[in-house]
Amino acid sequence: MRSLLLWVFYVHRLAGGSVASPLQPREPIDRKAVVTKFNPIRQASSNSTPLQLGNGNFAFGADITGLQTFQPFNTLSSWGWHNMSLPTTPNQTLPSDFTGLDWWTHGRLVNYAQPNPAEGDISNWMIQNPQRINLGRIGVWFGGKNISEEMLIGKTQELHLWEGSLESRFEFDGVETVVKTWVDPDSDTLAVRMEGMGRVDGSLSVFLDFPYADVNKFDAPFVGTYKGVGNHTTTLKTLGAQGVIRHDLDATTYYTTVNWEGRASLTGPLSGTHRYILKPANGSDDLSFTVNFSPRISQLNSSLESVSMATTNWWFQYWNNGAFADLVSETPSANATELQRRIILSQYLVAVNSAGHDPPQESGLVNNGWYGKFHLEMVVWHLVHFARWGRASLMDRSLGMYKRFLPTSLQRAADQGYEGARWGKMSDPSGRSAPGEINSLLIWQQPHPAYFAEVQWRQNPGNETLEMWDEILTHTADFMASFAWWNASTGVYDLGPPMYPVSENTKPNVTINPTFELAYWRFGLGVAKSWRERQGRTVPSKWVDVLDQLAPLPTVNGTYSVYEGIPNMWTSNTTTNDHPAMSGIFGLLPPTPDFNVTVSLNTARKIKETWGFGDLYGWDFAMLAMNSLRLGDVEQAVEYLLDSNYQFDDAGYAVGGVRVPTPYMPSTGAFLLAVAMMAGGWDGQEGVHFPADWIAKCEGFEPAM
Ligand SMILES: *[C@@H]1O[C@H](CO)[C@@H](O)[C@H](O)[C@H]1NC(C)=O
Ligand SMILES: *[C@@H]1O[C@H](CO)[C@@H](O)[C@H](O)[C@H]1NC(C)=O
Ligand SMILES: *[C@@H]1O[C@H](CO)[C@@H](O)[C@H](O)[C@H]1NC(C)=O
Ligand SMILES: *[C@@H]1O[C@H](CO)[C@@H](O)[C@H](O)[C@H]1NC(C)=O
Ligand SMILES: *[C@@H]1O[C@H](CO)[C@@H](O)[C@H](O)[C@H]1NC(C)=O
Ligand SMILES: *[C@@H]1O[C@H](CO)[C@@H](O)[C@H](O)[C@H]1NC(C)=O
Ligand SMILES: *[C@@H]1O[C@H](CO)[C@@H](O)[C@H](O)[C@H]1NC(C)=O
Ligand SMILES: *[C@@H]1O[C@H](CO)[C@@H](O)[C@H](O)[C@H]1NC(C)=O
Ligand SMILES: *[C@@H]1O[C@H](CO)[C@@H](O)[C@H](O)[C@H]1NC(C)=O
Ligand SMILES: *[C@@H]1O[C@H](CO)[C@@H](O)[C@H](O)[C@H]1NC(C)=O
Ligand SMILES: *[C@@H]1O[C@H](CO)[C@@H](O)[C@H](O)[C@H]1NC(C)=O
Ligand SMILES: *[C@@H]1O[C@H](CO)[C@@H](O)[C@H](O)[C@H]1NC(C)=O
Repeated sequence: MRSLLLWVFYVHRLAGGSVASPLQPREPIDRKAVVTKFNPIRQASSNSTPLQLGNGNFAFGADITGLQTFQPFNTLSSWGWHNMSLPTTPNQTLPSDFTGLDWWTHGRLVNYAQPNPAEGDISNWMIQNPQRINLGRIGVWFGGKNISEEMLIGKTQELHLWEGSLESRFEFDGVETVVKTWVDPDSDTLAVRMEGMGRVDGSLSVFLDFPYADVNKFDAPFVGTYKGVGNHTTTLKTLGAQGVIRHDLDATTYYTTVNWEGRASLTGPLSGTHRYILKPANGSDDLSFTVNFSPRISQLNSSLESVSMATTNWWFQYWNNGAFADLVSETPSANATELQRRIILSQYLVAVNSAGHDPPQESGLVNNGWYGKFHLEMVVWHLVHFARWGRASLMDRSLGMYKRFLPTSLQRAADQGYEGARWGKMSDPSGRSAPGEINSLLIWQQPHPAYFAEVQWRQNPGNETLEMWDEILTHTADFMASFAWWNASTGVYDLGPPMYPVSENTKPNVTINPTFELAYWRFGLGVAKSWRERQGRTVPSKWVDVLDQLAPLPTVNGTYSVYEGIPNMWTSNTTTNDHPAMSGIFGLLPPTPDFNVTVSLNTARKIKETWGFGDLYGWDFAMLAMNSLRLGDVEQAVEYLLDSNYQFDDAGYAVGGVRVPTPYMPSTGAFLLAVAMMAGGWDGQEGVHFPADWIAKCEGFEPAM
């Protein structure tokens, strides 16, 4: 069948002040029809993922009741963090007692923030602290009766993606209760309307409970503990239709402000707990309330109506602006429909989980991985898709971290004898990088600022963008140039050893010149150089030196290898495992001058034949898909995106697979990046790249570099 290709590509770039005129869609996309088709509907709580409401900085995970009645899913934020008490071990009582380890690095000892066996307690403390806290649990209170989920009948709920609201229904004692839940786009406020609570004895109420912090590397699906009640305190003050609960966990304090409408009472805590009860007056048929969480006493008195209206409006703007890909209204094949489902649900989930003041943790605001900390090498996967989907402002929200983390990154480099800024890895909001062998030796996060700077430049090429990134890029490039080591015997600059490449499974003391990092160093230094040129300033000679004389991309038998001289490339299952980052030099990065497409094709073939796909992290499939696209194999790209090891659950969360718990948000971001490449193309190949027999209607996409 001949395909009718309908595509629209709006050129957003303001080149020299003029706007290229957009092609008019022959048929507008009915965005609402496509979005609402994929509303998650559940008849029971999931035991692994909630349905979520949130605003990027704050999210509430709900069970089948629209609250956290049976499954204590989490309420997480950008700002809610806690420290356990410091160790009391002699000489290990303060973070400043941590000294790390010295490793030989090209003939000199360099100090790395790695756990030192002689100071295990403070090392551990620094890995586990601070940890992100679950702010609270809010559920239906059955008057103290032991009611289980199975005892409710007629349970059903629908997440209304278009409005950002959750509607849940259940029947208890012969009365149907409807719970509607929203989260304010602009404040960390939950709004709840419960209808049909009218019971003679008014037994249906709401409870609020407050957990203590936990120190589990992966705290999933539930964060915190309701044991150890004596380890923290809560106090309630009520005034009229408002109650404020102050929660103190050691040095952490925050306030939960409950505003209700109509006659009700907030009392508690129930003895031996931190549980409070919000109870409607006898005879009340419904209960509307808002719950705001804040590190300061809130001045807000948000009404349900104002929160629900602001939420509806925000999501209306979100879905109507930015890019859109419609793969199903003309040719609803099973594969296109599954991709569309993932697209819609992923777009919802990134707005809820990945658009905060700090970059998201790998599990977003769903649960905790790595104690709630975030990984700076993951930020490109988490954030760049926003820009390519025409929603750069959501990406920009967290990029301020580079300025905030600059002083500690300059210090990190200086302490190690390098120029410039060495960006950390597993981070907390202060920018401290948790001790770890991999954490201290990974390097592919270093060029990321260049990637973001160039993405912003393409959207807004002007002095403002140049100024915004100039200082960061200068310090970034200074470090990259200074890290590269002049190898007099080979006459090139080497990267490493010691180091860890993207695939964190090589021996750090022998890892040298990995393919992806070399290409990324070329890209990053190239951006820094053009930044200077765009400003009409001189380019530091060291940058040019390293750019011109960086080691060539390593090859084995006409394929790119993980790193130069790696033994048994393609013949050992330990080398063909973990991230196949050689595909990233064409998948994620634009080709650098020494890129050889024949070698890349050979490499893609070898990866397909030999790689351990069962062990991959989801974003690898998106990276492989983008590589396939550029190599001209659209069918292969779709196959990678639908690989059986790359799953998305009924609510659209990327399944963690064998390595990490669900959700794994880098997979989600990478997926949206791959879709953007199929829908918007890349420089020189703009436009849609879907299978020939799909009718894809796409609008608003930015092409990839
Ligand atoms: C945790 O402790 C560190 C080091 O003492 C401190 O900088 C940070 O502010 C503390 N964070 C919290 C949430 O208490
Ligand atoms: C603590 O440090 C002091 C001073 O350096 C030293 O004398 C002492 O042996 C150390 N104690 C332990 C338990 O390492
Ligand atoms: C790397 O070399 C350092 C010495 O410079 C040594 O302490 C360390 O244990 C080595 N690491 C590995 C993983 O072999
Ligand atoms: C509540 O009921 C469940 C069964 O539905 C039972 O397993 C549990 O022990 C009960 N809890 C209490 C406190 O009675
Ligand atoms: C509500 O009804 C219950 C049971 O009928 C009764 O015990 C309670 O005093 C009533 N509360 C109020 C505030 O009227
Ligand atoms: C409460 O604090 C004590 C003393 O610090 C600690 O041993 C215990 O594990 C804590 N309980 C919980 C549930 O965190
Ligand atoms: C908050 O607003 C509601 C509705 O607008 C009002 O009934 C209530 O008295 C206000 N509460 C406070 C503490 O200002
Ligand atoms: C940008 O900055 C340059 C150098 O400072 C200046 O010459 C130029 O006029 C500026 N352009 C705009 C559009 O402001
Ligand atoms: C290159 O390919 C040949 C022929 O397949 C094979 O014998 C050889 O071991 C390969 N070399 C490396 C370094 O893998
Ligand atoms: C690219 O690699 C192939 C295979 O190794 C080689 O034959 C070819 O000469 C290379 N092309 C360039 C431009 O270097
Ligand atoms: C490699 O293969 C061996 C032997 O089949 C197996 O025991 C091992 O788990 C595999 N390793 C990886 C990383 O897949
Ligand atoms: C759907 O995708 C799967 C996985 O890539 C592939 O095996 C299958 O052939 C595709 N189906 C159609 C109809 O293209």
